[in-house]
Amino acid sequence: MELKQIFANEITSHLNDMLELEEAQKLIEKPKYEEQGDLAFPCFTLAKLARKAPTVIATELASKLQHPLFEKVVADGPYVNCFLNKETVSKETLQTIVRSESNYGTLTFGKDKTIVIDFSSPNIAKPFSMGHLRSTVIGNSLAKIVEKCGFTAVSVNHLGDWGTQFGKLIVAYQLWGDAAQVQADPIKELLALYVKFHAEAEHTPTLEDDARLWFKKLEEGDVEALKLWKWFRDESLQEFSKIYDLLGVSFDSYQGEAFYNDKMDLTIDMLTKKQLLTSSEGAEVVDLQEFDLPPCLIKKSDGATLYATRDLTAALYRQQQYNFEKTLYVVGQEQSLHFKQVFLVLEKAGFEWAKELIHIPFGFILKDGKKMSTRKGKIVLLEEVITEAVELAEKNIEMKNPMLANKAEIAKMVGVGAIIFHDLKNERQNNVEFSLEEMLKFEGTTGPYVQYTHARACSILRKADHTVVTDNVKGLNDPFGWTVLKLLMEFPNVIERSFNLYEPSQIAKYLIDLSQEFNKYYSRVKILIQDEQLDSRLALVQSVTIVLEEGLRLLGLQAPKEM
Ligand code: ARG
Repeated sequence: MELKQIFANEITSHLNDMLELEEAQKLIEKPKYEEQGDLAFPCFTLAKLARKAPTVIATELASKLQHPLFEKVVADGPYVNCFLNKETVSKETLQTIVRSESNYGTLTFGKDKTIVIDFSSPNIAKPFSMGHLRSTVIGNSLAKIVEKCGFTAVSVNHLGDWGTQFGKLIVAYQLWGDAAQVQADPIKELLALYVKFHAEAEHTPTLEDDARLWFKKLEEGDVEALKLWKWFRDESLQEFSKIYDLLGVSFDSYQGEAFYNDKMDLTIDMLTKKQLLTSSEGAEVVDLQEFDLPPCLIKKSDGATLYATRDLTAALYRQQQYNFEKTLYVVGQEQSLHFKQVFLVLEKAGFEWAKELIHIPFGFILKDGKKMSTRKGKIVLLEEVITEAVELAEKNIEMKNPMLANKAEIAKMVGVGAIIFHDLKNERQNNVEFSLEEMLKFEGTTGPYVQYTHARACSILRKADHTVVTDNVKGLNDPFGWTVLKLLMEFPNVIERSFNLYEPSQIAKYLIDLSQEFNKYYSRVKILIQDEQLDSRLALVQSVTIVLEEGLRLLGLQAPKEM
C-alpha cells in the first residue's frame, strides 16, 4: 500500500487528465507541521494549468476527495492536506510488516536485470588501505540494496594483481627476498621489498630495466615469473580474506587485472579496426581532445599494457558475461579522470551500454583532519584497527551487560558494525573522520545505538512472551506510536531513494530516525499492559525489530537480539 499513490490517484481522478498520476505523486509533500496532516498536495502547478487561483483549486479538490484510508481532507491555503485514518492505516501497515517479515520493503523494479558492482579491489602485495576499506563497505552495501530492489547483483573484486610493479617485486625478491619471511608476514615483507627497490633504483637505474624485463616475461607467461607472481598473489589474498571475514563481505568473482592479460589483444584489435588508436611518442593512445580530456593510454612504447587497457577489457568481458544493466565502480574520487577516459573510449567505440558504466566516488578517511596515508611506514593496519574496535566494544558490553552470554561474538558484531556504520552514515562524497571512540558510542548517531535499540525492542518482545496474532492487531491510538508507524511506512521509499542516489547513507540516517522515535515511544508509552491494544503495540515493536534488522543488513551490519 503506497499512500502517496492512493492520494495522487484520488486527486487525479477529479482532474479530467489535467495531470498525470506520476506527476501528481511527485508533487505530494509532507506538511511542515504534524497538525497540518500527513500528506499535502500543493496546487500551484494546477493553478497554472487551469488559470485559477491555487486557493480556489485547493478548496474545490478538498471537498471532493474521499477514501476509506482518509480521515478528512481539508484545504489549507493553496494546499490540500490529507489526514490519514490512523486506525485503518496503522492496522494495515502493521499486519503487512509482521506478515512479510524481512521481505518488507523488497522492491521488484530490478527484476530480470543484472548490476555488476566493482568494489574493494585492493592491490596485491600492498596493504589494504583506508580507501579500500571505504570501497569495500560502500560496495557491499550497494550490492545488498541492488538486490533488495530486485536486481541480480554481481560483486566483483577487481584485484590489482597485474602491472609493472610486479616486475619490480620479482626483481627485488630475487635480490633481497627471503621465502620464510614473506610467508610469515606477506604484505609487510612484500611492501618492504617494494620500498627497497625504489630506494636502490635511485642509484642503480638498471634495476628499472630489469623490472621492465621481468614484467614483460610475466606478460608472456614465463614459468619462473608466473610462479613468483602467483605466490605473491595467494599470500596477499589470504591476508585480505582475513579482513573480508571480519567485515562479513564476500564476492562472486575475484577476476582482477591479471585475468584480462590474454584478452587485451582483442580490445586493442577492436580499437584499431575502429580507427581509434593513434600513436603518440611511440605509445598507442585514444585521443579524447573533443572532450577536453588527456588521451587514454592503451599501450606503452615497450608494448606493455596499462590499467586503462585492463579496465576497457574488463568492461567488454563483463558485458558479454553478465549482459549487465549497469556497472557501478566504487572507487575513490582521485580516479575520476581514469573512469571518464575509459567510459568515453567505449562510447567512442560505439557501445551504447557505456552510458551505464557509473563511477561511484567517495571521500577520504581522515585522522585529526589529515588524510590517513599508507605510504612508507605510516601504514595503518586495518586488521589491527578492527580488532581494537572489537575490544572496545567488548569493554562497553562488559560494563553495560556483564551477564550477557556469548559476549565475544556480540562484541564482534558491535565493533565491526560501528566501523561500517560510521563510514556509511554520511553522504559518501564527504570525508570521514576516523575516531574509534566516537563510532562506538551507544548513544548518538552510531551503529551500536541502532543495534542497541533493536536489542531493546527484542527484549520487550521476549518479556511479553506473547505471539502477536495479526488478526487481533487493531489501529494504534497514541501519537508516539503513529510517528513510529509513519516512519515504518517510509522504509520502501528510503530503499528506492538509496538506490537511485547510490547512497547507503539514506538508509543509515533513516535507521537513526527510526531508533530515536522508537526510543521516545518506549519511554512514553506503557507497552506491556494487558488491554485490547496489546497486540497492536507488540506488532509495532515487532515491526520495528523487522525494519531495523533488515535496514542494518542492507548496510552490512548484524543485529544481535541481546547486547
Ligand atoms: N586496484 C585499484 C586501486 O587500488 C582499484 C581498482 C578499482 N576498479 C577498477 N575496475 N579499476 O587503486
